[in-house]
Amino acid sequence: MDLSIASEPCDIDSVPRLMNELASLGSSHDLLADRDGRLSLLDKARSLVAALETPRETVIRQCGAETASFYSIALGVDVGLFKELAKDGGIAKKAPALAEALGFDVDVLRRILRHLTAMKHIKQTSHDEYAPNNFTLSLTHPMMADGYPVYRDFALPPISHLHTWLSTKSYAAPVSVVDNPFTFGHQTSLSAFSYLATHPRIAEQFNHHMGGYRLGRPDWFHTSIYPVQERLLDGYENTDGEALLVDVGGSTGHDLLAFHAAFEQQLKGRLILQDVPAVIESAPRDELKVVGIEAVVHDFFTEQPVKGARGYYLHHILHDWQDERCVEIVGRIKEVMRPGYSRLLVNEFVIPATGVSWEATYLDLYMMVMFGAKERTEDEWRELLEEKCGLRVMKVWNPGNGVEGIIECEVPVVC
Ligand SMILES: C[S@@+](CC[C@H](N)C(=O)[O-])C[C@H]1O[C@@H](n2cnc3c(N)ncnc32)[C@H](O)[C@@H]1O
Repeated sequence: MDLSIASEPCDIDSVPRLMNELASLGSSHDLLADRDGRLSLLDKARSLVAALETPRETVIRQCGAETASFYSIALGVDVGLFKELAKDGGIAKKAPALAEALGFDVDVLRRILRHLTAMKHIKQTSHDEYAPNNFTLSLTHPMMADGYPVYRDFALPPISHLHTWLSTKSYAAPVSVVDNPFTFGHQTSLSAFSYLATHPRIAEQFNHHMGGYRLGRPDWFHTSIYPVQERLLDGYENTDGEALLVDVGGSTGHDLLAFHAAFEQQLKGRLILQDVPAVIESAPRDELKVVGIEAVVHDFFTEQPVKGARGYYLHHILHDWQDERCVEIVGRIKEVMRPGYSRLLVNEFVIPATGVSWEATYLDLYMMVMFGAKERTEDEWRELLEEKCGLRVMKVWNPGNGVEGIIECEVPVVC
């Protein structure tokens, strides 16, 4: 192989076409209002970067620059760098003043600020002076910032040991919550969720990250995904105080709060949030109470206490578990579903045969290393929910484009 190709753009022939497409996409969309248009433009821009970049630049950027940037941001979150930068309306600040406020060696901080500037994560306003940009400002909120320590301290040890774990298992897929790259990377016998239960700081950051994950994405109840009025609200029978919707494993309630806000006028029934004790304890009880959401501790492997609800909602739950454990989780819900009336709404990625988004593929790999689990294709969902769980899949509502769909199921009526 002639190594000179490492210094040549990866796909120079596509550059003129990509630039034309970018220009026409950029002028034909309202980039603030049109999410799909903006994502198409972003995808095209990434294709242009990939075409223009040389292999050498890709290697150096991915291995060196991105990792140095990632760990610098995580460190910045730890020490409050971004909050300090955002103080006084984000007015530009000198490195020595920032270092003094943070109790940091100025030389170390200056080198970090320099790299974050080079990576376009903060702005340099003059010599030794820095100001936040939109990205940096967003890192002052834990829902954005806490993804960094969560990945560094919880998720990266597993994925960084994937190669070793696989090599000791003849490259077979992990299928257990207690023997996988997570347990290997953390040198623990605990599953990832048991580990969270014993590490409250990481658990809190994880919950913040789950809240931040959903920001700016269409919610499952958006008309482009699942027609809630027609499929859920219209048939709801509120005769004996039956619940309208139970969010099983709903974290601190972000999905139910958003659902309530969207349908406040039409909602008549009970909304119930269930999760493990530590998560329910950290939920915003007052905020939930004001809008009437009941937050209760429930282990989804045990008997479901809310019987005959109109909807049971599982968001990013089944992708954490192998099929056998999913059958147990779904089985506990199926036992209390009213045939022909109750719906199980599984909010998960439905992996397409081609054109899959990185939003689904990265998560699939993390599900493998953290839980020995996976994101599923439509065939895999049908096999799990119909063949193994005995439900009827009424419809798969799959918006694609890196957004989770709803797999709507019921218990069939036996005549
Ligand atoms: C990936 S998070 C998804 C949270 C939420 N549904 C969302 O989409 O933001 C998985 C959730 O399952 C909860 N969980 C794990 N094991 C559980 C169990 N045995 N019973 C109830 N909830 C559990 C976790 O505490 C966590 O909140």
